Amino acid sequence: MFKILEKESISPLVDSMTVDAPYIAGHAKAGNFVVLRLHEKGERIPLTIADADREKGTITLLFQKVGKTTEELGMLKPGNAVRDIAGPLGHATPIKKYGHCVLVGGGIGSATLYPILRALKEKHNRITVILGARTINLIVWENKFREYANELMITTDDGSSGRKGLVTEALKDVIEKKRVALVIAVGPIRMMQAVSELTKPYSVKTLVSLNPIMVEGTGMCGACRVNIAGKTRFACVEGPEFDGHEVDFQELASRLNFYREEEAQSLQQFRRKCKRKGGKGSLRPGTRGSC
Ligand SMILES: Cc1cc2nc3c(=O)[nH]c(=O)nc-3n(C[C@H](O)[C@H](O)[C@H](O)COP(=O)(O)OP(=O)(O)OC[C@H]3O[C@@H](n4cnc5c(N)ncnc54)[C@H](O)[C@@H]3O)c2cc1C
Ligand code: FES
Repeated sequence: MFKILEKESISPLVDSMTVDAPYIAGHAKAGNFVVLRLHEKGERIPLTIADADREKGTITLLFQKVGKTTEELGMLKPGNAVRDIAGPLGHATPIKKYGHCVLVGGGIGSATLYPILRALKEKHNRITVILGARTINLIVWENKFREYANELMITTDDGSSGRKGLVTEALKDVIEKKRVALVIAVGPIRMMQAVSELTKPYSVKTLVSLNPIMVEGTGMCGACRVNIAGKTRFACVEGPEFDGHEVDFQELASRLNFYREEEAQSLQQFRRKCKRKGGKGSLRPGTRGSC
């Protein structure tokens, strides 16, 4: 059991959760993720280790409530526990002195970038961070990013914060003005694809962190397979970061849609069950996670 120590709402759809997990905190590196299971009957979902405190033995996860398991996770409170958390998993981001790096985050994808930002900063890189979202309250951890970034740019689709428009427009301006050694993009598939298409003609090395369906996260089931430069790779053990110029984004997008109907049904059933038991569609205090 992994006890939840802190829980905070970051935006209407995004929560952060700090969990007591000394082993994972002691071994986590930028780019790693965990696979968690809320309770014995729960499904396994992967979440990035957004922050880790070795001394306190805690990890922080940021999650967007998009379906059954993340909604259920959002109902837990400090003092509740998560049944299983396996990790750290996946390859760590290659951290070294590159020069000028640009980190591009879309929505909840920014969570992945925060430990990468800190690790690259420790190696004395110059870092521009571009955070994009549909609207102002979907920008996550702006102040925490500001602490380490040399330059922070915000873009919103509706212009409610920073520059109105897409992250790629801001990125193009940066690339055209300064020499960029590395771009790391994490966010929706369309955004990572657009960033990779933008940087290719400039020959700027571009890493993207892929988010295929994962089950156990240890290379056994094949659920997370992605097509990289025409070859099948398992994102959980060979990624999740890959060269953006080699990723087949179309295939990734279509595989992610595979269980759309079942996911929607599962969420509806969960909400109905919660309503019957709690009356308000929420967990009763003291329950361990399942309605
Ligand atoms: C390496 C990795 C790191 C991730 N890190 C984060 C993070 O830090 N914060 C965050 O909010 N999200 C993260 N995700 C995505 C997150 O795992 C899914 O949003 C979550 O699994 C949704 O589960 P659900 O039951 O709430 O929604 P569902 O209704 O099951 O699905 C909603 C969406 O999530 C996708 N999804 C469902 N199950 C999985 C699964 N087992 N693996 C991957 N995607 C799935 C579906 O394709 C669909 O697009 C990460 C994904 C990967 C692969
Ligand atoms: S999640 Fe099973 S092989 Fe990657």
